[in-house]
Amino acid sequence: MIEKQHWHPVIAAEAVGTAPVAARLLEEDLVLWRDGAGQLHAWSDRCPHRGAKLSLGRVEGDRLECAYHGWQFDAEARCRHVPALPDFVPPAGHRAQAYEVCEAHGLAWVRLAPGNVPLPAFAAEGDARLRKLNCGPYDVHASAPRVVENFLDLTHFAFVHEGWLGARGAAAVDAYRVEETPTGLRATECRAWQPQSNLHSTAPAQVEYTYEVTGPYAGVLTKIPEAGTVAVADWNEAIALFICPLEPERCRVWFRLAVADFESPDDKLRAFQDTIFRQDQPVLESQRPKRLPLDLRAELHTAADRASAMYRRHLSKLGITFGVL
Ligand code: FES
Ligand code: CO
Repeated sequence: MIEKQHWHPVIAAEAVGTAPVAARLLEEDLVLWRDGAGQLHAWSDRCPHRGAKLSLGRVEGDRLECAYHGWQFDAEARCRHVPALPDFVPPAGHRAQAYEVCEAHGLAWVRLAPGNVPLPAFAAEGDARLRKLNCGPYDVHASAPRVVENFLDLTHFAFVHEGWLGARGAAAVDAYRVEETPTGLRATECRAWQPQSNLHSTAPAQVEYTYEVTGPYAGVLTKIPEAGTVAVADWNEAIALFICPLEPERCRVWFRLAVADFESPDDKLRAFQDTIFRQDQPVLESQRPKRLPLDLRAELHTAADRASAMYRRHLSKLGITFGVL
């Protein structure tokens, strides 16, 4: 499964404290924990002794202790102590299954198989003039690729987000450009007339976005400042979409905001994203088939759907099988 060679977000980094926590990725149960030095670990959530969940255990110094018989595993996942046989020295093969893990964008990312694809890029992350804030997670009964397509889709604003990101009377979408990139695609000159494009909108505005697919289940939306309203536009607000594919038809979604607003409380910024995503969710969960059909003949497309058609072609090319048909 090629998607195992990609990094995926599994949990908020701050949610992994001194107690082990369970997560799930590509139908694998995981346990995440931090050792005494704060170093993050992600293992299969299965004790190699009798198969109990390691996430039921506890951290003892630099070791994770299984809740069932107290076996202790060190930071390299090697069993170091079997309480029932205190003098026994476990051989090197007595170990839990460890995976690669790293922290980025406020999330813990896991790669289940060795690979050379970097983390999904998010250029705004490093810009100190923008505030970063995660929204979610949203647990959705939809496949991750359906959620990516919804993120790329300008043509639903007038209906799903009527009064917020669109209006029925202004549903027409101008032609936009789409080009393929190594990680997916870039769609530029995406314009929409939006009554309430963000928390602070006081009047409708014509907004322009660039969309990028940055990984099989990841994307970035960048807001292009309106001409004439921003004197120096060398930074752009952006929103990254990061999805954990839990099951082929179930996923966990985060949005990472990079915004110029340093004033509004976190809760207010999150409430706006929650409102928008809760409008998308029932439609996403209603889509059939739940898995995204990569055969372009399976659903109908128009020129306004060029971005999603290219996304499907890209997933085919990569050989993605999880969450697609
Ligand atoms: Fe984990 Fe026995 S099942 S110590
Ligand atoms: Co939407």
